[in-house]
Formats: sequence, structure tokens, C-alpha cells
Amino acid sequence: MCGIIGIIGKDAVAEKLLAALRRLEYRGYDSAGIATLVDGGIERRRAEGKLDNLEKRLAREPIAGRTGIGHTRWATHGVPNEKNAHPHATDRVAVVHNGIIENFQDLSEELVAAGRRLASDTDTEVVAHLITRYLEEGDEPARATKRALARLEGAFALGIVFAGRDDLMIAARRGSPLAIGIGAGEMYLGSDALALAPLTNKILYLEDGDWAVMTSKGVTVYDAEGREIRRKVRKTAVSGAAVGKGGYRHFMLKEIYEQPQVIGDTLHSFVNPATRAVTLPEFPFDPAKATRITLIACGTSFYACLVAKYWLERLARVPVEVDIASEFRYRGADMPEGGLAVFISQSGETADTLAALRYANKQRQHTLSIVNVPESTIARESEAVLPTNAGPEVGVASTKAFTTQLTVLACLTLAIGRARGAITPDAEARLVGALTEVPARAAEVLNHDERLREIAEEVAKARDVLYLGRGTSYAIAMEGALKLKEISYIHAEGYAAGEMKHGPIALIDEGVPVIVIAPSDELFAKTASNIAEVMARGGRVIFLSDAKGVQRLGWQAAATVQLPEVDPFVAPILYAIPVQLLAYHTAVIKGTDVDRPRNLAKSVTVE
Ligand code: M6R
Repeated sequence: MCGIIGIIGKDAVAEKLLAALRRLEYRGYDSAGIATLVDGGIERRRAEGKLDNLEKRLAREPIAGRTGIGHTRWATHGVPNEKNAHPHATDRVAVVHNGIIENFQDLSEELVAAGRRLASDTDTEVVAHLITRYLEEGDEPARATKRALARLEGAFALGIVFAGRDDLMIAARRGSPLAIGIGAGEMYLGSDALALAPLTNKILYLEDGDWAVMTSKGVTVYDAEGREIRRKVRKTAVSGAAVGKGGYRHFMLKEIYEQPQVIGDTLHSFVNPATRAVTLPEFPFDPAKATRITLIACGTSFYACLVAKYWLERLARVPVEVDIASEFRYRGADMPEGGLAVFISQSGETADTLAALRYANKQRQHTLSIVNVPESTIARESEAVLPTNAGPEVGVASTKAFTTQLTVLACLTLAIGRARGAITPDAEARLVGALTEVPARAAEVLNHDERLREIAEEVAKARDVLYLGRGTSYAIAMEGALKLKEISYIHAEGYAAGEMKHGPIALIDEGVPVIVIAPSDELFAKTASNIAEVMARGGRVIFLSDAKGVQRLGWQAAATVQLPEVDPFVAPILYAIPVQLLAYHTAVIKGTDVDRPRNLAKSVTVE
């Protein structure tokens, strides 16, 4: 959840550390800090709140040093203030940490009893003190670190520097991701390839349990058993240049507007427009032979699973379970042999999704991941990977990752359905045709931006908002509600329209906007009845539908957005866009920090 960076450089590193933290800020922004090695000692600058505060602090109090570490925090233990900001340090050691040290209470009691004074309320500070203690006992940095690591329980990615040892940095990984970058006479460590992108494209990923000793000349990696081990150096395609707002006010808006392009890029990998057929890469197993498919993810990615459940059951005629990763991983469910488990994650690092993947691997399922970061841990630990080619998604609210996940899942549905004989070649050609039209239709949906901004004026006044839909639109209703609450802080619920009369209809009054997602599909008439029930009770309906739907019902709604008429198969991909824009404009009107909403982080690498 936090972002960490480390550089053994040739010249002053403070600015480079700060720039890397900018690329990592999506992982947390409760506080930030850097530590560098200067004149045999450790210098630190830390600041509460967003990175801008650290930048101002550094402008007032610059910091020298060619070796340093940096951190941007999403608070777990200890409130977000300067005292709890990383790096944590003693006079000999400075540490940055992503993860949770679960036994920190026991360790801090032990350290305090031994006469050490801890300055923060964090779980991290014990690491610096533990290593210092072993250094004081006469250990070299590597041995002192190894001994300290053996005492730690929990999940961590650590970057450690040592006073007076400008050409040394130690990295360790258990649970939380960590990459090491190799430069020309420089070495780097970072939470992900994006952090390192402008510094180097030569990266190796530490595996779980690994720790590494880095100098400007290279890196030696040890595995959990302490054996020296080689980890493959990869050339990463991640470009630091891609990460800018490109003239948009917010990353989220830019990412919403990128959707026609990135959906097209994603389709391009799997669809042949000439033959109107889907071709997936070779898997080490046949997904069409799966006796059952289990789709697992968190947050927005979970709603992509929910859409896919409807598709796979309906079109590919395969039994499907969907599960929230944090629930699934602890349920101890038996997964019958012959099953396929699919994991969906933008980041590919979400701790619960990763744990669920490991569980499925142990249950001898075939595993497939659909990720946006092909070098991520989830991708590396899955048997097969289907990438979403969305490009870096920086806004905390997931937008283009969601619609590209749906695009991949649509292709997977068609491939499995065809192989199982449930989808005829003609039907495949028709559905592929509908898919290939999505980029153009998505561009048309974006033309409704201004209308959605007008509607957002009303939504922004509400305290509660309901989203309703049936079938795949039910999943989009939940996604719309999640988008709204996470960036505008307005309470919102997504409901299956048919469930209204089983309870939630009691909430309806003129102060609760009800956003109905209703493409004209075979469930439209049912949704129309639910809309009538809402309006009969004074509810103000904001109606998202197509020309047919608007003709039938639009006149009754308080506000209407008429979206392009498309095959119901692809409707969820397109209807995701207006709910994103509605949430975006509502948040802008309310003046929240759209890209970095309170209490959240982009990548959830802790449980
Ligand atoms: O990286 P992942 O797709 O695994 O992330 C899952 C969720 O944390 C993520 O979708 C989250 O719900 C977003 N903030 C939603 O906009």
C-alpha cells in the first residue's frame, strides 16, 4: 500500500527520489519522506500529507547524498503525521517499509526493555532498531539484516541503508512486491516498475522470501533459505513518459477519455476483425475443459467478475462462481479438480487476490490472471496470463482498467463458448462484430460528458444515491455506486432492480437520486416496472438507456442520457463510462481530491 524507492547513485539523489515518489504516490499519500547518507551519517526529511508538502520541505531544507531511500505512506499503524512518516531511522540505519510487521508489539517491548527509545507509533521502526542492535553486537550490515529478517512476522518490502556505507543498500521481500533496477553504475529498488521507469528498463523482481545486497556494481540475491540465487533480469516496457495528465485536469478524466483507444488496443490482441473470430494465446491447459470457473477479485475488478459470470453462464454455458478475494481466501472452500480459477487485478499486486491465487494453486486449479501489469506478482504466479492493455492507471478510481478487463473477459467468454460448442461460428462473428464496434461507441458515449456534468450538479447535493440495474447492468450499478462513494464521499448503493421491493425501496424520497442503468435488452420491461415503482414513491430517476429505452420511458425520468444502441452483450462495457463520468463530475463539484481520495490507495498490498 505504501510506495518505496531506493537509489545508489553517482550524484545527488534527493530530486530523483522525489520524482520516483511522484510515480508511486498512487500507492498512498498520508505522508512522505526521504533519507540520504551524508558525511557518515543519515539525513532525513519527512512531511505529513501529500508529496507536495515534502517537496516544499526539501526546497526549504535541501538534502545532499548520492545514496538514499524514499517512501510514500498509506497509514496502517500510527496516525498519518510526521513522526510516523518513513524512513524510520536510528543513528546507524534507515528503513522504508511497505506491508505490516505483525509481531511489532512483542519486538518493541523487547527493544524498549533493552533500553532503546522508539520515536514513532509504527510497526516499521522496530526493524531499524533490531538491525542497529545486531550492528552494535558487531555484525556486518548483511548479517545484521539477515538476523533481523528472521525475527519479523508479517508482510513486507524493505529498503535499508546504513550510515557510512554509501555504496550499500539492502532490500527484502516477504509478501509485498519489490523490484530491483540495474543502471549504469547505479542501482535502484522500487515497489514497481513504474517507479523505476525513467531510471532503467532492466529490472529483476525479488521472489517471496528473497533479500538482496545491492552496491553500485550489482546485486546479490538470497532466497528464503539464505542460498545465493539468480533472478531473471527482464527488460520492462513500462514507460515513465506515459505517466502524465496529458492536458487533462485529473488523471481520472484522462483515463476515462483513453477508453476508446485502450479498449481497441486490448481487442487488437485477441480479435481478428477479418475473420470475426477470437484467438487467445496458447495456454498450458484448455480453459474450455474446465468443469467450473471461479472468478476472484476485489473492488472494481470484482464487478468485472460479476459481469463475466453472466456472460460465461449464459453464452459459454459453463458453471461459474464469483468471489471477493478477501472472503474467498479464508473460507477454506474445496475446489473440485478440473476447475479453472481466474484472478482479475489491475495492479496484479492486491494482497487478498494474490493470497486467493496461491490458495487456488494449492487446490490444484488451473489458474489464469487478467492483469494490467504483466510483470506483477499475480501474473508471475499464474499458469496463464491475459493482459489488459490499458497502460498505467494512476487515478485511484479504476476506470480504463475496468473496461479493458471486461473486454478481455468478453473475448474469453467467446473463446470458451465456441470451444464448448455453446456459441456457433455465426454467433461468434456477430458478437465479435459488436465488440469491434465498442471503441467507436465508447467515443460516442464520451460526447455525453457535458450532459453528465449537468446531472452531477443534482447528484452532488444528495446525501444518498441508489444505482439500479438487472443482469450485467446490476454489476454496473454496483460499480457506479463504488465510483461515486470513493471519490465524492457520497453514500451510494448498487442494487439489483428486482431487489428494491425487498427492502431498499423504503429509502426512496425526493432527496435520493436513483440512477437506473437500463439498456434495452430482454430485461428492460422488468426494469421499467421497477422504475415505475420508484417514481410512484416520489423517487427522482436518472435514466441511462438507448433510443428505444428513452422512447419508452425517458419522458417519465427526472433526467435522461441517451446512449448508443448496441448489442446487449457489450452494453456493460459502454454503460460503465457514464457512471464513471457522473462520479467524476460530482467529485469535482464537491471539491474532493479526485485522483487521490481520502483514506484510499491505488494498490492494496496489505490485507
Ligand atoms: O489492482 P486491483 O484491480 O486488484 O484492485 C482492486 C481494487 O482495490 C480496486 O478496483 C479498487 O476498488 C478501486 N479503487 C476502485 O475504483
